[in-house]
Parts: sequence; C-alpha cells; structure tokens
Amino acid sequence: MVDIVILAAGQGTRMRSALPKVLHPLGARPLLQHVLDTARALQPGRIHVVYGHGGEGVRDAFEGQDVLWWHQSERLGTAHALGQALPHILAGSEVLVLYGDVPLIRPQTLRALTGALAGGADLALLTVDLDEPSGYGRIVRDSAGSICRIVEHREASERERQICEVNTGVLAARAADLGLWLGQIGNENTQGEFYLTDCIALATAAGRSVSAVRCEDPMEVTGINDHIQLAAAERAYQARIAHSLMAAGVTLADPQRIDIRGRLRVGRDITIDVNVIFEGEVELEDEVMIGPGCVIKDSVIRQGTRIQAYTVIEGADIGRDTRVGPFSRIRPGTRVDSAAHVGNFVELKNSRIGTGSKINHLSYIGDTELGAGVNVGAGTITCNYDGANKHRTVIEDDVFVGSSTQLVAPVTVGAGATIGAGSTITRDVPPQKLTLARARQLTIDGWRRPRKPRD
Ligand code: UD1
Ligand code: CA
Repeated sequence: MVDIVILAAGQGTRMRSALPKVLHPLGARPLLQHVLDTARALQPGRIHVVYGHGGEGVRDAFEGQDVLWWHQSERLGTAHALGQALPHILAGSEVLVLYGDVPLIRPQTLRALTGALAGGADLALLTVDLDEPSGYGRIVRDSAGSICRIVEHREASERERQICEVNTGVLAARAADLGLWLGQIGNENTQGEFYLTDCIALATAAGRSVSAVRCEDPMEVTGINDHIQLAAAERAYQARIAHSLMAAGVTLADPQRIDIRGRLRVGRDITIDVNVIFEGEVELEDEVMIGPGCVIKDSVIRQGTRIQAYTVIEGADIGRDTRVGPFSRIRPGTRVDSAAHVGNFVELKNSRIGTGSKINHLSYIGDTELGAGVNVGAGTITCNYDGANKHRTVIEDDVFVGSSTQLVAPVTVGAGATIGAGSTITRDVPPQKLTLARARQLTIDGWRRPRKPRD
C-alpha cells in the first residue's frame, strides 16, 4: 500500500496575496486540488496533507474530501514537514512525497517511482535536467554514476553548481526507512532547516539502493512561487488539455487560444474556433461547431448545433441542429428543444424553447414556456418582473409574435395566434386569431408644424 504525503505548509510570500498559495487557481481549480486529483488517480492508501500557512482556510477549502490533515506549526524544513505525517502511516506502507505547489505532475511519472521501489530500490527519487538549474538541489553522482547525495544550491560548490540534474523533491520510500532517516537528519546548514534531501546521503551511506527516475518534461515538476510561474503553468496546463482534445478528434482552430476551466466532454467531429472559454461541466455532442469568442459554462450542446461568434451560454441545454448567435446570451434554466434559431442580441433566461422556433433579433425571453414553430419578431420582450415577483409567460405552438411586442406576464398566448407588431399584451390572447394592442394610426389633415418666430 502506498500512502501519499503532500507538503503544503509553505508561505508563498512571492504570490503577494492574502490567498494561501495552494489555493490559487490553475484551470479554475486550486493548485492543491490538482495534486489531490493526481494522487487519487494512483489509488493510494491514504492521502495526507501537511499544511501550515493559511491554516484552517486551506483545510476548509477541501472539506468533504477524503484527506488526512496534519498541521506543521513551525516551518522547519521539508524533513520536518514530512515528520508531521509519518507517525500516522503504518511502518509497512510505502510513502510517496508530493508538493502542494507542484500541480502538473502526472500519474504515470509517479508510477515510475513506486515501480522503482517494487523493482528493489529503497529510495526512488524524481530528478530532472534543467538548462537553468540555479536555486535547485543538485544531484551528486559518483564515478560509477550512482547517486551519493543531494546538495542544496546554497551549500553547493562552484563545481557542483555546474550540475544540471536537479532534485524535484518528489520521492518514494518505505515508511519504516523514512522514519529511521528523519530521525538522523539535523539542521546544520545555511537555512537551519531539516532537509528531506539528506535522506539520500543517509541511504547511500547505509548501503541502501537509491534509484533516480528522470522526468522528461520540466513543466511537470515546476513549482509555483509567483504569478509569473502560475501564468506559465496555466498555459502548459491548457496546452495539455488542448492536445488531449485534438487527440480525441476535435478540430481546434488554434490550440493556444482555448481555455478549459473545468471539464469538457466531447463527441465526434467537433470544431472549436479561437478564444473560446469553457467553464464548469460542458458537454458537446457530435458535429457541434463553436464560433470564436464564446463563453460556455455548465451546459450541454446537442448534436449538429452551431454556436456562433461571441455567444455566452450558462446552465443551458441547447437541442440538436440549432443555431445560436452571434452575440446571444443564454442564461441558466434555458432549454432549447431542436432546430431552433436564436439570433443576435437575444437573451433567454429560465425558458423552454420548442422545436423549430425562431427568436432571431434583439429580444428578451425570460420565465417563458415557448412552444414549437413559434416566430418571435425583433424586439420582443417578456415583462416577467413586476418589481417584486417573477411571472411566467406561455406562448403556445405556431404563434407569430409581431416585432416590438411586450408580453406583460403572467400571460398566455393561445396556439396559432398572431400578435400585431408594437402590441403591449396584458391579457391572455385567444388562439388562431389576430390580436393587436396598440393605438390606431391617425392622419390629421391641415395640421401645421410649429415654427420659431423670425424677426
Ligand atoms: C526543495 C529541495 C530541493 C529541490 C526543490 C525543488 C529540500 C531541502 N530542498 O528546495 O532539493 O530542488 O525543492 O523545488 O527539500 N515545505 C513545507 N514545510 C516546510 C518547508 C517546506 O511544507 O517546513 C513545503 C513547501 O510548501 C514547498 C516544499 O515543501 O512546497 C519545498 O519547500 P522549499 O523550502 O520551497 O524547498 P526548496 O528550497 O525549493
Ligand atoms: Ca527552502
């Protein structure tokens, strides 16, 4: 069994933020959530988080998740941090150490470490080759190429600083061994900290086998310390999702101009234009096309539907073979059946739109039950709010609503009715007839326009 310990007690001073570092979002999920999700993907025994800075706020942010929390009240170093969790881990377990501010580590990389233990190593260490290794602990090997120790940048000699293979901090070992080593680690170094990295020298000195697993992608093991690194990690994370979407068959106009802040599920033959943002849980069925600049949150877009440029959709179910946009706004609680048209500057809220209905221009439809085959003219407004309460509008099948009509809810328009343009409808409209509610047109003979007196 492998227990996972995530060290997350660091201060994050360079974030210059009141928000604890591990709560800063990457793809709309806290940094620590990424690590927790990756940890869970390994199906470990228990997951432990060592927290400190940010205190209970950090704990509270992950309430309800199956995690054991251990508080490190003083930040005395990475070995001391691990020491907070270790007494709570069975001696026979393996331990994998991760970091709350290293969010892009992949499960398969970590499996290589636990695999090394299974293959006979006593300590498996994840290393990476960096062009700019400054600041990191360097991996010191002997003439045979075996690891002897890690030397922190501050303590390293000029020659050791030339080493490009660095410690990622991620390691795996058996709990009993770690307990033994932690007991022997002192803090006689430039920072006066208990360095977890000293385990390596202790293990090799005791003739135990230390195995290094090289991580190919430095981004996986990059820690987040400031907003510049956070932004770089965000791009890397988004690129990863974009690549997996393309691998799943999605056509992306530009993989660098899409942002997924949540989970996007996709069918076949989907095309997504540039600068589209997906938030929360979004599902796109087969043959959906998303135009440029759209923002789509917590919604389902069904087969063959086309969402045109600069449309904002939230909490909606958009039926098959429908066309929405450009410049539409679909708000929560909206359900569009199929083959409908929703056009520019149309806002829909908490409404059901029947099959084949058209609302093509400049309208507000809220709290409305709109049947099939309805044509809503430009500038139609459902007046759903009286200042205190919301009221419903019902528009039955095959109604034709003339342009610039106001429907003062609660009101029902019967099937097949036609409403003349410019009507203010305050009472129910009978089916199949023409209803008008506007002043009659008059022409006044002999009328003269007033003129300014001239002198
Ligand atoms: C550490 C490694 C270094 C490695 C680098 C990779 C040590 C001594 N050094 O250095 O070899 O190259 O990571 O990024 O391990 N933390 C706690 N409690 C503490 C101290 C640290 O939880 O008391 C956590 C921090 O939140 C952070 C992580 O451990 O996530 C690393 O700590 P930090 O002091 O930043 O280590 P580095 O100096 O970067
Ligand atoms: Ca440090």
